[in-house]
Amino acid sequence: MATGWLVPPRPRLRARPQHDDLGAALAAAQQHQVVAMDHLVAAAKPQQLRDLRRAAPHDAGGVGVGVGGNRAHPESLERLMPDPALKPKVLKGVAMAKQAKKMRVTSAAGTDLHIDMEGANVGGGCGISDEKGQIDYWPGGLCAFYPRPGAVTGTVVMVAGDINLTFKRYLSDPVHMQIERDCITEIHGPGMDADLMKSYFAAWQDPNAYYTSHLGWGMNPRARWDTLVMFDRNDTNGTEQRAFAGNFLFSTGSNRFANRFTEAHFDLPMRNCTIELDGQIVVEKGNLIPELA
Ligand SMILES: [Fe+2]
Repeated sequence: MATGWLVPPRPRLRARPQHDDLGAALAAAQQHQVVAMDHLVAAAKPQQLRDLRRAAPHDAGGVGVGVGGNRAHPESLERLMPDPALKPKVLKGVAMAKQAKKMRVTSAAGTDLHIDMEGANVGGGCGISDEKGQIDYWPGGLCAFYPRPGAVTGTVVMVAGDINLTFKRYLSDPVHMQIERDCITEIHGPGMDADLMKSYFAAWQDPNAYYTSHLGWGMNPRARWDTLVMFDRNDTNGTEQRAFAGNFLFSTGSNRFANRFTEAHFDLPMRNCTIELDGQIVVEKGNLIPELA
């Protein structure tokens, strides 16, 4: 069985603001050779997964294709080796999200977000590739979905310790966001964190930058909230922080299922939130319920 470690070339930058290497923004061409081996581990930028997914069913001759998010630190990959026990938990969470009609997210800090789940495109990352041609993230462990248009309304209040993964930094000040039918209509806060986000949003000069993207929650009990402090920004893309158990992953940017596209993208894992599906708690104050843990 051949095993390889390849880093595909990044696509040429097109936008003026600094890219975060995230989201359905750009895709590199001619990636087919990347999946020509029997069993492969590739380090790919997340936006390149689209091409890898197209190629994998045709070219992958072996059991699967595991993909580490670009710049997932080797230490993080080693510590979070694919765990078969995580898969049924993630699939359980995905099934619960698929059945739900409403999702509500609350927090002591003031988050109160309402999401209409009907028609949402729900998926999950199990962190393991055990089927032929399958692509998955490593480290993995995420239940996530793209809501249908106009499904997200309410308030998001990020606080110190929540994470802006585009900037790869922990917030030290609160950031309030008001959302009306997917659109962030107001963003404010007392410190630099809100100023940085407002500046980055505005730099794109793109109204679609202000809309919600995917939502979900972390499922990996071995992924750690606090390891971002240990790595230089260029050595990690925060895949572990998207997956840590019980985080509410809020994001802004493209939602192809709502036919909105932009190159701007924020991934914003939040701690200590409570997530309910049709009134049933799945995450309580940042902790997965036992059924999912
Ligand atoms: Fe994202």
